[in-house]
Amino acid sequence: MPHLKVSPFDTSIIEKKLASSEMMTFCAQALNRSDMLIGIEHGGEEFLLQLKPDETAYLLKYDKVTRPLKVNLLKEALESVSKELELDVRASNIAISNSTGPLSSDYFKKIEDFENISYPKEKVSVEVGFGSGRHLLYQAKKNPDTLFIGLEIHTPSAQQVLKQIALQGLDNIWVVNYDARLFLEMLPSNICEQIFVHFPVPWDKKPHRRVISSSFLEESMRVLRKGGRLELRTDSDKYFWYALETFFSVPKVEVEVRKNEALEVTSKYEARWLRQEKDIYDVYVKCTEESAAKNVTIDFNFNDVKYTKGIEECLPTKALVFEGYFIHFERVYKISDQSLLVKCAFGSFDRPEHKYILLGENSCRYFVSSPVKTTVNFMAHQKLAEQLMLTKGE
Ligand SMILES: C[S@@+](CC[C@H](N)C(=O)[O-])C[C@H]1O[C@@H](n2cnc3c(N)ncnc32)[C@H](O)[C@@H]1O
Repeated sequence: MPHLKVSPFDTSIIEKKLASSEMMTFCAQALNRSDMLIGIEHGGEEFLLQLKPDETAYLLKYDKVTRPLKVNLLKEALESVSKELELDVRASNIAISNSTGPLSSDYFKKIEDFENISYPKEKVSVEVGFGSGRHLLYQAKKNPDTLFIGLEIHTPSAQQVLKQIALQGLDNIWVVNYDARLFLEMLPSNICEQIFVHFPVPWDKKPHRRVISSSFLEESMRVLRKGGRLELRTDSDKYFWYALETFFSVPKVEVEVRKNEALEVTSKYEARWLRQEKDIYDVYVKCTEESAAKNVTIDFNFNDVKYTKGIEECLPTKALVFEGYFIHFERVYKISDQSLLVKCAFGSFDRPEHKYILLGENSCRYFVSSPVKTTVNFMAHQKLAEQLMLTKGE
């Protein structure tokens, strides 16, 4: 990732240059630490740069939470800031490149995109943890009238499949680099034909990390159309029995089980088990009812929350844990006597959100964008707002 190493300098110059700067909008000093954040507005985006002073050199780099997808915007901001502050650059890796980012394809979708998206095909299917993508690509080629949403947390696999989509000229796959356990919540009810879960990681020692769970089943049944199927394929006896138990724990369900059924396409992973003559199990769960439309209003406004004098010293420093989610005020940065940037982590334990909250004299908002609209994020947001209201300084 782009960064600059510069000779130590008097950082009070940043504040003085703000008024005349092309990109810098504010600077914020970490409480009880030496690092700083610099607000940037460039190319229609807002983000932060981080300045980390050290005895021998200062590091000017990107901020993980607000990093823009277009790396060149970051590089341009680093270059502009170093010029405006007349920094003595000792090392740099900010040569502007023409190459597009690996996740910059039209077929790559961010989770936030699903807050307001139109589906280009009448039919939609989902594949969870597509790995090498053999099954996903095969299905997409065979069913051009269906949009396949592939979910994969392993970024290199997502990148490989995006390359294959371009090479094979497919227009009916969306790749989402996100945790499948949280993703289904973003889909409308009754939209899916099939949800494929092929060879999920068994997680025998950490069962809470398994994709299949009662809540995953519940969300799957909501997003599947009547007659649609959740299809699990596994080589793990333990996972097979665990899944059956999970599926049968609901009052009404239609389940079909098969053993050693050959599919038209064999994934890389499956080929290995077949060579070892391992048994393979399929469990199909059919959706038998239409679901009600999803109708929750999620609003991430902070309403009456605003800066109160001394609040920076009083916010809880330890994570607060609630049922199914948490909030954690991780770090506080002071912008002025009446405004702060508060770095927070919150939401689900599996896929926490990391955001800054910009707390000013008259207002409060997430910087630079609101969290993903999931139920746990909304519950966590309410607790964050409550804490910011409750916590009074002097
Ligand atoms: C054992 S591999 C199977 C890959 C592929 N389905 C196949 O049959 O070859 C499991 C895949 O699921 C992905 N994965 C694990 N947990 C996930 C989750 N919660 N959401 C999305 N993908 C996940 C892993 O990164 C991995 O690529």
